[in-house]
Amino acid sequence: MAASLIGGLLAAGHPAARLRVAETAAERADWLRREFAVTVVPHAAQVAADADALVLAVKPQQMAAALAGLRPPSGALVLSIAAGVRLASLQRRLGEGVQLVRSMPNTPALLRAGISGLYAPPSVTPAARALAEHILRCVGDCVWLADEAQLDAVTALSGSGPAYFFFLVEALREAGAGLGLPAATAARLALATFTGAARMVQSGTDVAELRAQVTSKGGTTQAALRVLEDGGLRELLAAALRAASARARELGEALERDGP
Ligand SMILES: NC(=O)c1ccc[n+]([C@@H]2O[C@H](COP(=O)([O-])OP(=O)(O)OC[C@H]3O[C@@H](n4cnc5c(N)ncnc54)[C@H](OP(=O)(O)O)[C@@H]3O)[C@@H](O)[C@H]2O)c1
Repeated sequence: MAASLIGGLLAAGHPAARLRVAETAAERADWLRREFAVTVVPHAAQVAADADALVLAVKPQQMAAALAGLRPPSGALVLSIAAGVRLASLQRRLGEGVQLVRSMPNTPALLRAGISGLYAPPSVTPAARALAEHILRCVGDCVWLADEAQLDAVTALSGSGPAYFFFLVEALREAGAGLGLPAATAARLALATFTGAARMVQSGTDVAELRAQVTSKGGTTQAALRVLEDGGLRELLAAALRAASARARELGEALERDGP
């Protein structure tokens, strides 16, 4: 995720000289230097001391170690993209002076086609909010949330969401092969249908209308959609999102108990 953000910031015109990266793994640090021509240091404290904005992009389990000894300047933006790590935990470790924003991006950020949910408590300044949004807009769209707990729902919908669509394409290609198509042909048809449909959605027409347009009365699509409705696909997706959201909440609670 950090590499996606660095790539996005550079593509948006941020000079590499103004980006500094902390990376503990030497091999990964070398790759970052080669790929992006940015300064890479082993300890976050070296970049945090005089940063305008600090992005926390380590795994939740690594957060406690990453924050140890960090003293960002008073008023600096600290933007966390770590799943589950609550603002209260970060605040406890970083003190009162920083402007803390929490977010949940998703993996299409790699192609600058991501979407991030953001939350900041009322005490965070408009300038810090704008800077956080500016950073995340370099890798896609942004949605502000009214309370921190909604980040669990964002994690369930858009955070884990790309995997649901990959799963659907897998299932479609298997179903196509099941109808007698050669496996490679079924895979090609499923994939192109998925990407083609996604491009139709980008035209701005509502998905319900797009669906209605391709569903003629008594036709093949209607026969298939009836099976999906009768089989409870809507309820199943709702249950899947509830499970992901509950898991995000549990992970947040566990981290609150055990650190960071
Ligand atoms: N992947 C997603 O779809 C996604 C979506 C939204 C949010 N996120 C969040 O984004 C964060 C990063 O996820 P990721 O998948 O990009 O993880 P990742 O590939 O493990 O990246 C984290 C990087 O930070 C390095 N690191 C660890 N401790 C450090 C320290 N103290 N100082 C500096 N660098 C340190 C790690 O090095 P080592 O490899 O040596 O540990 C690793 O290169 C996570 O908190 C995750 O919850 C991920």
